[in-house]
Amino acid sequence: MKHEFFEKNSILLLVGILVMVSIGGLVQIAPLFWVDSTIEKVKGMRPYTPLEQAGRDIYVREGCYNCHSQMVRTLRDEVERYGHYSLAAESMYDHPFQWGSKRTGPDLARIGGKYSDQWQREHLINPRSVVPESIMPGYPWLAKKLEASDIVDKMKTLKLVGVPYSEEMIEKAKADLAAQVQSEGRAVRDLLKRYPKAKVGKFDGKADAEPTELDALIAYLQMLGTLVDFATFDASGPNLR
Ligand code: HEC
Repeated sequence: MKHEFFEKNSILLLVGILVMVSIGGLVQIAPLFWVDSTIEKVKGMRPYTPLEQAGRDIYVREGCYNCHSQMVRTLRDEVERYGHYSLAAESMYDHPFQWGSKRTGPDLARIGGKYSDQWQREHLINPRSVVPESIMPGYPWLAKKLEASDIVDKMKTLKLVGVPYSEEMIEKAKADLAAQVQSEGRAVRDLLKRYPKAKVGKFDGKADAEPTELDALIAYLQMLGTLVDFATFDASGPNLR
């Protein structure tokens, strides 16, 4: 019996097991090297603007993820409370992603557009001023000037790990960063061409031209979950590119 032969020779049995397991591994893993992406592309998704990216870094720096998740699960109560469940594509340009596992505060995956910039501003400086029973800490120090001298390097690094920033986007990063806190003009139109649906304006409510950390964080919050148009999105396919 061949079986008996293998069972009596432990080395051969070991080699046999290794061969079988590797075949299984190859069948499962190898195709992933040839597909472009394991995430379905969805219309509307674009990389973050330089200001949104800077805001995202502040979100991570301040540890907002300790209390807030960014992932609406496919459960009825979540969808009714927060909106359409999150798609994998919606966090495909996040390094690292902010799905999180702790919800001391509500999920923020679809917070964009839920409140005005003014509400966001007041809430971040002192949450109790707009939500009296809130236990969220205030972040009054965010009103200072944004230090973004490394934005070009950041975008280049993100490009290395697969975020599709074009040469033009990287070249114009500083101009785009400044443009997003203007309300109109050529620079704003250029920004919107590169980053459709970006929110522009004086997020921190101040007329000065220099973006603050508050501007960056609010620009980020206001775009979260707004890029995909769920009025036309169809999970069965036609909206996928
Ligand atoms: C200690 C936990 C905690 C931390 C840290 C925290 N939050 Fe909150 N957050 C809450 C709680 C609780 C609420 C609900 C009460 C409220 O609206 O203030 C909340 C509410 C919010 C809301 C409104 C959500 C909604 O749908 O009404 C936003 C926006 C928000 N937080 C942003 C942030 C940002 C940005 C940071 C980091 C700078 C942050 N939070 C850090 C606990 C936290």
